[in-house]
Amino acid sequence: MTALLEVKDVKVRFGSGQGLLGRLGFSSGGSIEAVAGISFSLQEGETYGIVGESGSGKTTLARAIGGLHHAQEGSILFQGADLRGLAEAQFRGFRKDIAMMFQDPIGSLSPRLTIKSLLTEPYRIQGLKDRDLEAEAKRLLAMVGLPADFAGRFPHQLSGGQARRIGVARALALDPKLILADEPTAGLDVSVQGELLNLLARLQDKLGLSIIIITHNLNVVRHITDRMGIMYLGRFVEEGRTDDIFAQPQHPYTLALLAANPEPDPDAQLARIELKGEPPSLIQRPLACEFHPRCPFVRDNCRTGAPPGWQSSSEVHSHRCHWPADWQNAEA
Ligand SMILES: Nc1ncnc2c1ncn2[C@@H]1O[C@H](COP(=O)(O)OP(=O)(O)O)[C@@H](O)[C@H]1O
Ligand SMILES: [Mg+2]
Repeated sequence: MTALLEVKDVKVRFGSGQGLLGRLGFSSGGSIEAVAGISFSLQEGETYGIVGESGSGKTTLARAIGGLHHAQEGSILFQGADLRGLAEAQFRGFRKDIAMMFQDPIGSLSPRLTIKSLLTEPYRIQGLKDRDLEAEAKRLLAMVGLPADFAGRFPHQLSGGQARRIGVARALALDPKLILADEPTAGLDVSVQGELLNLLARLQDKLGLSIIIITHNLNVVRHITDRMGIMYLGRFVEEGRTDDIFAQPQHPYTLALLAANPEPDPDAQLARIELKGEPPSLIQRPLACEFHPRCPFVRDNCRTGAPPGWQSSSEVHSHRCHWPADWQNAEA
């Protein structure tokens, strides 16, 4: 089975001589690798989660996949075609298939445009002038469970949850194969978050969409994603089937994220693990294991050597850590 999307060792750097100072020959000295070698694949109809703290490179990765950022290395295969490094004109053909949903999907757009204009803007951008925009707006509103008369409203008349639904409808406008949803539920009440996630799940089921959900909150991906990657400083430290990762998390960072966002029935064992301090600066990455300065289980070799390559804890779940959680002994 060919993957819909195959991301291979993608790297995105900022500040390495791309700005004016760099072009004039001055070294900024502040070059960072925001995405430092990410690989994963996504099948048609699958939902993939990318989870990590703020600054871990999630948005940069999404923008690279969506053609809004240039990735300097790696490949981004969409239905077998490499999108990395395509010029805007060449990427345009794929823009219809890959829809981006941003955290504040309509806040950044003109407050004077009606919902109908906002929803049908993708048609105008793609030059689909012959569409019946009125009918399309109503069709899209119905898909996200909003009444047809919302077409005549303005963004400021919407609640947070309704605005997110408009964001979903707009992403659906061109009938995409893949939706990249960056923090789709951030800032919403927990109950509204649940409604939005249910909506995404229903649409995916109905339309056979593939979805990538990016979030700092593990609870968001728990029930809706098939597989996920846990991202730290631009790299995955754990990757695999969502159920497996929740049942037997291996990397201390994953354990800490789980403890930071407990579900209503938190596992007492996880609740004791606390993430120390802030993520380190990308300008000066920690040596050896990059997580060691914050790791509650740090041992000597974590400070002196990088963790071994990917280790599999099952066929569908792997991690990079010197001292992963030992569930067999914990349960014995
Ligand atoms: N356009 C940019 N120029 C320079 N640095 C950037 C740019 N966008 C993001 N970064 C940096 O890249 C890192 C990852 O950011 P981001 O992808 O936004 O993380 P996340 O979405 O996980 O919070 C951060 O250190 C951020 O400051
Ligand atoms: Mg982000």
